[in-house]
Amino acid sequence: MSGFGRECADIVRAARPGSYRTGMILGSGLGSLADEIDDAVRIPYAKLPEFPVSTVTSHSSELVAGTLCGVPVVILAGRAHYYESGNPAIMRTPVETLKELGCDILLATNAAGSLRESVPPGSPMLISDHINWSGMNPLIGEEDEKRFLDMSAAYDPELRAVMQKVAAETGHPLAEGIYMWFSGPSFETPAEIRMAKTLGADAVGMSTVPEVIIARFLGMRVAAMSIITNLGAGLQSHGLSHDETKSVALTGMSRMKQLVRGFVKEIGND
Ligand code: 6GU
Repeated sequence: MSGFGRECADIVRAARPGSYRTGMILGSGLGSLADEIDDAVRIPYAKLPEFPVSTVTSHSSELVAGTLCGVPVVILAGRAHYYESGNPAIMRTPVETLKELGCDILLATNAAGSLRESVPPGSPMLISDHINWSGMNPLIGEEDEKRFLDMSAAYDPELRAVMQKVAAETGHPLAEGIYMWFSGPSFETPAEIRMAKTLGADAVGMSTVPEVIIARFLGMRVAAMSIITNLGAGLQSHGLSHDETKSVALTGMSRMKQLVRGFVKEIGND
């Protein structure tokens, strides 16, 4: 079982020849980083076979290839979520495309709810590990023996160290924690949030885990970062909304961009 990654990579290379180092997925409200890519070509997902066009209003659904701080990068501005189609492998072809374009690193971002008051809305949180609470897996149906994938160090320790070094240089500490994947699209109940805390999660969200599993399956190294947009249900005085997720993600953007730029520069110097 494999997707159309090669075909899609050919289309990208025809538009902008070259090899790329880092692929990025930008989550809800975080798409504006794609506007800062130099020497960019933009290809709408609709022009790429098997790329899913997201139904989430804050996602722009285009692939942007170019350079960031002089380093060749490919950005997926917009992701599809499991809850949009019921297909946990919906991001298979986009992640394969990054890999086919030469990206050996995936940097995934998302908007997430915090379970820790010490990591409030607007903060970035580097993901150190995950809990897959969805019961789903994008490798279901995969026949290659590699499906028995080792997830012991899914969030690359060296890449995390790079991100922490960049954060330290900016003078702000960077929280690190465990991201728990709920299928969505409804938010959790307060009881579910208490459970998540008890099980050891630091943040909850509706994405990223399937892409991380696919990227690891393809042999890519992974770093992932959440922007905290709210606390989990029952931990904040008001209820949850996607509008809040989108608007608070915008406020966390400048810090995230600073970290991503620093990260890409470090990687590019390797
Ligand atoms: Cl509280 N839960 C989930 N599942 N996703 C979120 C969130 C919460 N806040 C932002 N995204």
